[in-house]
Amino acid sequence: MFGGLKVLVTGCSGFLGPWLCQRLLDDGASVVGADIMFDERSRIHDLSGKVDQIRLDVQDFEAVNRLLSEKKIEFVFHLAAQAIVGVALEQPLETISVNVMGTSNILECARRLAAGGRPLKGILVASSDKAYGDQENLPYLEDAPMMGRFPYDVSKSCADLISRSYFHSFGLPICITRCGNLFGAGDLNFSRIVPGTIRSCLQGERPVIRSDGSLIRDYIYVQDAAVAMFLIGNTMLEDDTIFGEAFNISNDKPLSVIEIVDEIRAAMHRVDLVPVIENTARGEIKAQYLSSKRLRQRLGWAPQFTLREGLLQTIPWYEKHCRSENARAPQR
Ligand SMILES: NC(=O)c1ccc[n+]([C@@H]2O[C@H](COP(=O)([O-])OP(=O)(O)OC[C@H]3O[C@@H](n4cnc5c(N)ncnc54)[C@H](O)[C@@H]3O)[C@@H](O)[C@H]2O)c1
Repeated sequence: MFGGLKVLVTGCSGFLGPWLCQRLLDDGASVVGADIMFDERSRIHDLSGKVDQIRLDVQDFEAVNRLLSEKKIEFVFHLAAQAIVGVALEQPLETISVNVMGTSNILECARRLAAGGRPLKGILVASSDKAYGDQENLPYLEDAPMMGRFPYDVSKSCADLISRSYFHSFGLPICITRCGNLFGAGDLNFSRIVPGTIRSCLQGERPVIRSDGSLIRDYIYVQDAAVAMFLIGNTMLEDDTIFGEAFNISNDKPLSVIEIVDEIRAAMHRVDLVPVIENTARGEIKAQYLSSKRLRQRLGWAPQFTLREGLLQTIPWYEKHCRSENARAPQR
């Protein structure tokens, strides 16, 4: 139980952050949310007054150190990242710095706290399916090597390895999650296929597929992922044999990009909008998807939403969001 614990969620103002903060608040946690920026459109503002929101750059070691000490943080969910694959191709150094050094800063501050006699109860690091890179054996199992090749993927492989190094070397109470593509209310990254396709359908435009449409990926509803992270965190509080483990989070039903776009068009009754296939994507792995067997068997987790159910939860949020964005756009 997180009730009464002081829990830090980094990257709280992004897509996944508010969902996890909500789940922790429901459990009675005292939640501190840190982010480098608080976008006014973020769902974190729906939780304002409930989450102690701190502006912080995880690349700033001293600021992280101060936050963990002064706020007396007991558990960390580390989500903050430069999480967009395309941005990573344009800004590899910044991506590596945020994702690798940002994660290292959290771990090193935790190590120093422990050395000073105030160990954290747990650190859950959000890695990614991308950390595996291109593997021969599918679906990915947790013991597969980290083989990222492109900037975002490599940054996640490194952060994942460094996290486990802090467990093996210093005994820090660390676990890692590796998710496939999340979707749900609050994802403002329209370069991602689900938000981008929903917005196109709402605008009556043909959805754009940057790849050739054949790439195979996992798609999981964000609430299922937030619950999985919460459950892993909760288990970390009770069972120290779990430390050092990584967990894949997946609904074990991979789809091609064309298939997910078709699902969205069908759910939105816009099958008339035939996708435009640009075939310009670079740095993309042909097929990557996860097995969540470990999470299901060890922790009894199972997703609560089918793809269609998740989409039906998600689409109304974008309808409302796009209406208010249109209302705010300057009139010509
Ligand atoms: N969304 C997905 O499909 C997905 C899949 C697998 C793994 N992940 C991982 O889960 C985590 C959360 O993903 P998300 O979709 O919510 O991403 P997101 O981009 O929506 O949120 C990330 C947040 O981190 C913040 N951030 C960036 N740089 C920072 C810095 N230097 N200091 C402090 N905060 C900073 C951003 O402002 C943003 O609010 C990330 O680590 C991501 O890599 C996401």
